[in-house]
Amino acid sequence: MKATGRHFITLSDVRQQELDRIFDLARTLKADMAAGKRPKLLEGRVLGLIFEKMSLRTRVSFEAGMAQLGGATIFLEDQHIGFGKRESVADISRVLSSMVDAIAFRAKKHSSVTQLASYSYCPVINALTDRAHPCQALADLLTIQEEFGHLNGLRIAWVGDSNNVAASLIAASAMMGAQVVVSSPADYQFSSEEVARLTAVEKRPGFSLEFEPDPKKAVAGADVIYTDVWVSMGQESEEAVRCKVFAPYQVNGDLMAATGKKETIFLHCLPARRGLEVTDEVMDGPQSRIVEQAANRMHAQKGLLVWLMTEAKADA
Ligand code: CP
Ligand code: NVA
Repeated sequence: MKATGRHFITLSDVRQQELDRIFDLARTLKADMAAGKRPKLLEGRVLGLIFEKMSLRTRVSFEAGMAQLGGATIFLEDQHIGFGKRESVADISRVLSSMVDAIAFRAKKHSSVTQLASYSYCPVINALTDRAHPCQALADLLTIQEEFGHLNGLRIAWVGDSNNVAASLIAASAMMGAQVVVSSPADYQFSSEEVARLTAVEKRPGFSLEFEPDPKKAVAGADVIYTDVWVSMGQESEEAVRCKVFAPYQVNGDLMAATGKKETIFLHCLPARRGLEVTDEVMDGPQSRIVEQAANRMHAQKGLLVWLMTEAKADA
């Protein structure tokens, strides 16, 4: 068998015009659905899902999205396939990819996804790793674009851990021309090597990346304040230390007010630890767009799936 198609493991796997196309498809499919239409663009296609970590949004958005597009999914829990234990990654990848049209993989280690992809005959999608969450970034930028009507030059303040979600947000923002300011405590900031890797994408004018450890200064003038958990999956043993270090980075009413703008929106990829990185007041307040953002996971990934399975050119 021959390998066909493209992977979506980080944003650097797509060109700028391809990302635009994914967003166009997502918006069209979302509008179709709102009008009561569910075009069966992926009839007969199958998406395999391998999850080594817990999930609500990512699993449901892929499963519901494929069903709406006329396709099917097969959910494979790690404990059932024994990734790299029951049989080699190469054998799992070759066998699975000979039967399905794409594989979405949520892995403990980023290298597991790249390894699976290296043997796969079909496209592999990163459904979250310790290093990147590119599907989340699609929904994030779709949500911001819907709110403000554009992305160019918008100011996004990331407050908290320099983690997988922040990494993909930076890369996607670079491609779409948004400004990002990252506010993380010392010792929890991206290294210069990571920054270079994240920004090695096709950039649009309007993009800028700043680092401001003081959260109040970082959010000044921000159109979006975005945070995530202080303790990501796999970091549970660091919980006590992290909760102490990150305490000044809580997104609360005072921090929202520090933007100096009434129209600033609040985003969180979810799941949230209410009372830690964000207060109930902000989560449930009028500036919160967390439900719209989560719902956009499905619309954005429908665009991605249609593009990957029907349009993506292997040699682009
Ligand atoms: N945001 C996100 O990826 O959520 P899940 O972990 O529930 O999939
Ligand atoms: N940073 C979080 C995101 C969860 C969607 C984690 O990796 O656990």
